[in-house]
Amino acid sequence: MLTIALPKGRIAQDSLVLFSKIFNQSINFDDRRLILRLENITFLNVRNQDVPTYVHYGAADLGIVGLDVLEERSDIDVVRLLNLNIGKCKVVVGSECGKPINYLKPRIKIATKMTNITQNFFSARAIAVDVIKLYGSIELAPLVNLADGIVDIVETGSTMKQNNLQIDEVIMHSSAFLIANQNSFYVKKDSILSLQEELKKLI
Ligand code: PRP
Repeated sequence: MLTIALPKGRIAQDSLVLFSKIFNQSINFDDRRLILRLENITFLNVRNQDVPTYVHYGAADLGIVGLDVLEERSDIDVVRLLNLNIGKCKVVVGSECGKPINYLKPRIKIATKMTNITQNFFSARAIAVDVIKLYGSIELAPLVNLADGIVDIVETGSTMKQNNLQIDEVIMHSSAFLIANQNSFYVKKDSILSLQEELKKLI
């Protein structure tokens, strides 16, 4: 019996398609249902950023989550099993077109959902930064002088384009990974590896 945490949001649909193929039936969470039980497997419908938490504490044996989320949650210890090559995106530093971040300022302000990645990136360059935590619509921040720039995810690039922002630098490339709880990987190794093989065939 395996429990798998699937993320809501941008990776959700692609991961449901993968598991629908493996289990040969349509896998969908009805309306607001958060648990889906099949014969030998249970799926949990969790927020993207929470997938590592469910897996780390063993509430889920496996999870699917973006590498960007894993980097942001570096406090959490899970086994990275397989790059699924879905949900590809970049984490970038961005600013308003024609208004680049002024790195000569004693401190810069960066708005982001990804505070750890941001802090680590600028600390490694010895740039003093005030990290302003937002929960969404990050691209708005430089346009209304809340911040000098942003660190955010770019997938198609259309949100930045439509808001007159440019990519200054790419911090990392990301895609979705299959991850496992350390203990589950030991105790349920056979079923986890066989599921990993099934996923490998599809990617
Ligand atoms: C993410 C990200 C960007 C956007 C990028 O936000 O924070 O805003 O997607 O995608 P694009 O390059 O394809 O335009 P999300 O859609 O998760 O919504 P949010 O702003 O509410 O977090």
